[in-house]
Amino acid sequence: MHNQHILITGGSGLIGKGLTELLLTKGYTVSHLSRGKGHDSRIKTYQWNVDRGQIDENCLTGVDTIIHLAGAGIADKRWTKKRKRELIDSRTKSIGLIYDLMRRKPNLVKHIISASATGYYSNRGDELLTEESQPAKDFLGYCCVVWEQAVDQGKDLNLRIVKLRTGVVLSKKGGALPQLALPIKLGMGTALGTGKQWIPWIHIEDAVDMYLHAIENTTIQSVYNMVAPYPVTNKQLTKAVAKQLRRPYWLPNVPSFLLRVMLGKLSLVVLGSTKVSAEKIESTNFTFKYPKLADALKNIYG
Ligand SMILES: NC(=O)c1ccc[n+]([C@@H]2O[C@H](COP(=O)([O-])OP(=O)(O)OC[C@H]3O[C@@H](n4cnc5c(N)ncnc54)[C@H](OP(=O)(O)O)[C@@H]3O)[C@@H](O)[C@H]2O)c1
Repeated sequence: MHNQHILITGGSGLIGKGLTELLLTKGYTVSHLSRGKGHDSRIKTYQWNVDRGQIDENCLTGVDTIIHLAGAGIADKRWTKKRKRELIDSRTKSIGLIYDLMRRKPNLVKHIISASATGYYSNRGDELLTEESQPAKDFLGYCCVVWEQAVDQGKDLNLRIVKLRTGVVLSKKGGALPQLALPIKLGMGTALGTGKQWIPWIHIEDAVDMYLHAIENTTIQSVYNMVAPYPVTNKQLTKAVAKQLRRPYWLPNVPSFLLRVMLGKLSLVVLGSTKVSAEKIESTNFTFKYPKLADALKNIYG
């Protein structure tokens, strides 16, 4: 089956931009649901204001699949109480608004594919995490649990629901990599904390391809990890970026206490260890273009 019309929430972001391009190339019609007006004439942009509970009621016209990517940036600001609320509401109230609209207005939507994050498992040492693993009890874990629960509220609407627990998306255009690469580019590359923490990474093209895979294979349901099959440690990642950029890699590491002082609880994002399995998505015949980090970095910086 070939879905014709895809509505993307947060389609202006890193993954949304890449996915929009791929879908347009494949002949899909794409619309966005955004806080802004949108500047791309190939796409219809509908507006919403999640805080005020406002949504353009026409946004579901002709749409059969919704991709839910909207959410305030997890690592953009310190986690104050207010910011934590924003991180959660921008993901949960947003999808709730869409479901309310679907209940009120007849529509064609049959599939919801939503981002979630490997933050679901949070900081877990060397444990290999599968989709069956329990969520972490910290803020990241809680945020992902309520996000996935909000997405699952669509079950009574007879929808096929897919949640993709995304790791650190590697791209030159945004996300964590440019920030990680900056000290390395300046010749000051060094691991963070012990450097032994596992980083669940994925190349942007594979992330975008996995969304397409979930759109086109309607047997895919429920939850999948969105990570490359060969995880690396923070030290391996830092060394690999330094090698690719032909810059030095230094010792000692940046000590954990310093990162905690600088970043507060947010330091969990760089100090946490999350070793995540890609086996379940591989069992659906998804093929990674970049299963290995060295090849992914070569493509990104080559
Ligand atoms: N990139 C990663 O490494 C990564 C890792 C794990 C999980 N994820 C998840 O995957 C999803 C997409 O990731 P991404 O990297 O493409 O994110 P992104 O670049 O930060 O884009 C997210 C989009 O969400 C919308 N948004 C931001 N704040 C919002 C708010 N307060 N209320 C409503 N909408 C808001 C924005 O679109 P408009 O300005 O058009 O409204 C923004 O472009 C996110 O939910 C993210 O948490 C990403």
